[in-house]
Amino acid sequence: MVGGARLAGEVTVTGAKNSVLKLMAASLLAEGTTVLTGVPRIVDVSIMTELLRRLGCVVQGTPTKLGITVPERPGHEADYDLVRRMRASICVLGPLLARCGEVRVALPGGDNIGSRGLNWHIDGLAKMGASVQSSHGFLVASAPRLAGASIWLDFPSVGATENLLMAAVLAKGRTVIDNAAREPEVVDLCELLQAMGAEIGGVGTSTLEIEGVESLTPATHATVPDRVVAGTFAIGAVMTRGDVVVVNGRAGHLEIALDKLCTAGATVELLEEGFRVAMTERPRAVDVVTLPYPGFSTDLQPGMIALAGISDGTAMITENVFESRFMFIDELIRLGADIRTDGHHAVVRGREVLSGAPVRATDIRAGAGLVLAGLVADGVTTVSDVHHIDRGYQDFVQQLQGLGADVRREPEDDQRP
Ligand code: UD1
Repeated sequence: MVGGARLAGEVTVTGAKNSVLKLMAASLLAEGTTVLTGVPRIVDVSIMTELLRRLGCVVQGTPTKLGITVPERPGHEADYDLVRRMRASICVLGPLLARCGEVRVALPGGDNIGSRGLNWHIDGLAKMGASVQSSHGFLVASAPRLAGASIWLDFPSVGATENLLMAAVLAKGRTVIDNAAREPEVVDLCELLQAMGAEIGGVGTSTLEIEGVESLTPATHATVPDRVVAGTFAIGAVMTRGDVVVVNGRAGHLEIALDKLCTAGATVELLEEGFRVAMTERPRAVDVVTLPYPGFSTDLQPGMIALAGISDGTAMITENVFESRFMFIDELIRLGADIRTDGHHAVVRGREVLSGAPVRATDIRAGAGLVLAGLVADGVTTVSDVHHIDRGYQDFVQQLQGLGADVRREPEDDQRP
């Protein structure tokens, strides 16, 4: 891409990657056809589709609408080949255990944003009466019928909350999950489960109370819009001193992020169809601290570091959720950014301009952050390993082109995991 173009116009956000994968897993909880709309065309959805097919489900539909038909007795094994390609595959653990009484899911291992534990998933299922062991690279769990339990999470883990929730809806009796994650994607999952007949109280709060039911029935559900994709375009508008309407963007899910962009000098306008972000001057440096929702999303941290890289002043970015999420900073430094890290803090001294160079995407969000940096770098920037970005951004290049960016996809970069 060649930096310098201003992003202007309208862009439409699809359903959230971090929600739809869990909604697809939740369909396993009921025999019959669950229909999901607002499904993004991204690689992770294809991987989850493949996983569900291997479990005996029939998955069909249009690109944005999926019908998932679950058999009476789905399979109960997710192999390493799929889990390695998409760590979120672990979200079938809870629903398969609840539905089949046994499950074998390959252990995902670490990834480019750090070592990612499963201890809270395992401890919670064990509290519900499951026997859980690690054996030959698999997590193997069994429980003829899970029993409701009181579970306190040490940290409001999104994945653990979702797995335990999907296990609890079919457990015998009442489960309380305290210090639960409150992300909009968790709320979206609760809403699908409720539509399937689950009894869940405290939705959107940090205490979820679930009264287990004997069985669930399939439902139809619209996926919540992707706040990370919406936030990425909002940051891009600010960095390029542009003017972008994010159609389908839910400002209410991005409160702190949009507030930070306003502090940087942007104007944010709420619209019926989404929101608009406009910027006319060089952004001012703003500090950011990532935290579980409603705190600032760790998934937007790379974008905010890229923004700080060209802002006026010095910003301190603190990462509290993933230990290695600063790995991509060396790539930003290749673009001329002035960044120093100390543990989970990054000090970014803004530069007037960055300078285009070849860089490598290390994960999905880092990849998006590097593309944003390339949009304002002088000359040509080439981002390789863009298959990471394909995991969660539908038609990213076309969307940026639609907003006026000088960006194109090189065929040799078209590598899939
Ligand atoms: C999800 C999102 C990811 C987002 C993250 C935090 C999906 C597919 N991914 O990831 O984009 O950045 O939430 O908002 O939805 N941890 C443990 N033990 C556990 C579980 C988690 O130590 O049992 C740690 C993790 O290593 C991490 C932190 O807790 O450091 C947060 O993880 P978690 O909230 O579970 O994130 P994910 O669900 O993996």
